[in-house]
Amino acid sequence: MDPRSEVLLRQTELFTGELLLAGLPADDLLGRLPLARGWSWHAGEQATLETRFPGRVEFAVERPAGSFAAAVLFLPKSRELSDYLLASLASAVAGGMLYLVGEKRAGVESTARRLSAFGQPRKLDSARHCQLWQVQVNEAPLAPRLHDLARRYPLDTTEGSLQVVSLPGVFSHGSLDVGSALLAEHLDGLPSGHLLDFGCGAGVMGALLKRRYPQSRVSLLDVDAFALESSRLTLQENGLEAEIIAGDGIAAAPFGLSAIVSNPPFHQGVKTDYSTSEALLAEAALHLEPRGEMRLVANSFLRYQPLIEAHLGPCQVLAEARGFRIYRASRR
Ligand SMILES: C[S@@+](CC[C@H](N)C(=O)[O-])C[C@H]1O[C@@H](n2cnc3c(N)ncnc32)[C@H](O)[C@@H]1O
Repeated sequence: MDPRSEVLLRQTELFTGELLLAGLPADDLLGRLPLARGWSWHAGEQATLETRFPGRVEFAVERPAGSFAAAVLFLPKSRELSDYLLASLASAVAGGMLYLVGEKRAGVESTARRLSAFGQPRKLDSARHCQLWQVQVNEAPLAPRLHDLARRYPLDTTEGSLQVVSLPGVFSHGSLDVGSALLAEHLDGLPSGHLLDFGCGAGVMGALLKRRYPQSRVSLLDVDAFALESSRLTLQENGLEAEIIAGDGIAAAPFGLSAIVSNPPFHQGVKTDYSTSEALLAEAALHLEPRGEMRLVANSFLRYQPLIEAHLGPCQVLAEARGFRIYRASRR
């Protein structure tokens, strides 16, 4: 059981009614709270929960429809995302209770201060390095409109300017990441066919690929519903067509790819986590056609070359600048 769920279960009597659990971990909490439903924006966690509790958890960027007596937010890492989620949940439980639970080191205390927009917040518990806060929603806000919170920025390419649209919580919200900018400068000479933007975020790479290789089929894959919605908006804004895939890790990718392009993740929550990137390096060959190519950007301190050569094939450093490296490797 996730420590945040354990903290909730120390006061089960508060959570027995019709409850919405937003950003819930993939554990057994729903089994202990039979009237609760979940809202998840993480494709892997949602899939795990769906198997165990069919029909009780929605994968979405908007709050599930229905009436709820109370709602719990499991603190996400982005401040802008938590503001959107808190406003969305508070608008749904006017007069009822809104709870916030999160790890202290993830900043639950400072987010809890923002609950005062809705009423008088109270700290109910502090245990397992987490805190649980409660506010009775006396000042319910209007339901926020997610698309109003989108940020847009232009990206100049040799094929013209692209508009990138990003939503709260999405990687490098509102501006191009330094590593992604370097990768964008090194997309020449990819084999045509079926191209994958793995960990697409706001869809920068996927949109660039479709612009540069219009004859190729392009797929964009991410685990996060807000990233996928941003990618959809980016493609739409630029009149581009590509496939969007919700999935957790490279295992969710199509087969027979001619190239995988990625600025792979290495942070998850407040912890550093290389497992998604390591699985990408280890399993990319299964998803690439023979002589298919992987092109990656990564922090220069991450020693990916030997790993890529062990699993995929000859790997070359195409460029190194601003603390990042571009790797190019072909399947043997
Ligand atoms: C470093 S960001 C790159 C985003 C975008 N490609 C760019 O260049 O701006 C990595 C992305 O990987 C996604 N991600 C993290 N874990 C993942 C997983 N297990 N499966 C698929 N995508 C994942 C994150 O949501 C994030 O959007």
